[in-house]
This record gives sequence, C-alpha cells and structure tokens, in this order.
Amino acid sequence: MIIIKIGGSALTVKDADKPTLDEDNLERIAGELSAYNDDMIIVHGAGSYGHIYAKKYGIGDVISNVNDHLYKLEGVCRTQASVQLLNYMVCEKLQEKGIPAIGMKPSAYMTTNNKRIDMCDTGLIRKYLDNGFVPVLYGDAVLDNNDYMKYAIISGDQIITYLAEDLHADRVILSSDVDGIYTDNPKTNPDAELLEVVTRDTDLKTTENENQADVTGGMYGKIRELLDLADYGIESLIINADKPGNIRLAVSGQKVKGTLIK
Ligand code: IPE
Repeated sequence: MIIIKIGGSALTVKDADKPTLDEDNLERIAGELSAYNDDMIIVHGAGSYGHIYAKKYGIGDVISNVNDHLYKLEGVCRTQASVQLLNYMVCEKLQEKGIPAIGMKPSAYMTTNNKRIDMCDTGLIRKYLDNGFVPVLYGDAVLDNNDYMKYAIISGDQIITYLAEDLHADRVILSSDVDGIYTDNPKTNPDAELLEVVTRDTDLKTTENENQADVTGGMYGKIRELLDLADYGIESLIINADKPGNIRLAVSGQKVKGTLIK
C-alpha cells in the first residue's frame, strides 16, 4: 500500500487572495496517479482553499472570549466547507481518470490534542481500501481536546505520517513545488544543493530557515515528521509535483529526482 500527498501548492494557486484551483495541474496529476493500480491512499493539501480561512480566523489559536469563540465557529465552518469543496473537485477529476476515489473528510473521524492527531478511525479507511477504493483525505480543521483552543488545523503531512504508521504503508511519497530538501532555500539561493538522502545524521541546520517554509509547520516540520516515520522503519520520498511525469514515476516505483528520508 502506498500513501501519496499532493501539496496544496501543486493543486491550487497558493498565494491567491481567494480559493483558486490550478486546473491544468489537477488534470495532469490525476492522470499520472492513474498509473498506479494497487492499494493507495491519496492525501492532498489545502492550498488557497484552506490557508486563507485558517489564518483569517486564527484557528488553532487560544480562544480569548465568547465572541472570539463565535468567530472561530464561523471560521471552522468556512474552512471545512472550503477544503471539502476542493476535495470534491479532486475526487471528481480522479474518478474521470478511472480511479475509484472516495472523499473522506478527516474532521468527521479525527480529533487532535494540542494539534496532534489523538483519535482517528483508521478501521474505516482500511475497510474502503480492502474494498478496492482509493481513499482521498486532506488537511482539515478539526476538534481539539485542548479547552483553550478547541479547534486545530491538521496538515496533510501529519495525516500521512499517522496513517503510514497505523496502516503499515510500504511507501510514502510527498509532493510539493520544490524538488526535495536543499542545503538552503532554492528559490532565493542559486547555490543551494539538493540532498538526495536525509537521515537523522544529516546536518539540517540550514533548513530551519523560515524562508524555506512552504506548508503548515514549514519544511523543517515536514522533515521532523518524516524522520520520525523513518525511525519507525518507513522511508519516504519528497518530489516535485510541478514537474510533469514525476508523480507517474514515483507511484510506479521508478527512479525520480527528489530526497529520500530514511
Ligand atoms: C492545511 O493542510 C490544511 C488547512 C489549512 C485547512 P496542508 O498544510 O497539508 O496544505 P498545503 O499542502 O500546505 O497547502
């Protein structure tokens, strides 16, 4: 079984001021994913469908008073509705390409405690997999058991590492809009070099650079999650979804430029 994350930066125009789909990329990526015919879970990011609302309403921040709580209720509703709409469009496209994609809204069966997943009905996901479906999950706004914040945002990255451990994935692939992990930010430093392999022993000080953050928690947060997964015995590969053919190669287990975390 493989788990693949498609970053919100590949599916949407991430810095748009309103939710905006990248239709060409979605069409291409869905086609590339159809190259894989075995057990697969797809997790996608939220891009401009989620981050705009999560930020505006401060979801995951401590709730200061009753009015702030009412505001956050509105924010959770709007965030959930927006990312669910993106998930609907992603699933529709995957189905068009012949993938039996089933949208599974994480907030309906997942909660967090201090922003980390503490409950998830993986049995339900397993059942869909066993019946031949391809579950499609996504970063979402969920209930948090910390009474001071009550709600939290879970990233697709956190979801894939949780599911990979719980469902014993054979391979984990993460795609975003960069080739992998660099010695520095490749968007601002032309001398930055791609690291083909990252382990606990790799000196990663430079990746703490804020500029390199591209998703919830930044690239450093992503690497930390993936190193934990490697400790657990599951390797993961970071690739660039913006480059045509990469996802097809990665899901089919062929060599592709990227960073292997092991
Ligand atoms: C974010 O998920 C979820 C919300 C903001 C609701 P991700 O962190 O996985 O999304 P991307 O990949 O950065 O867009």
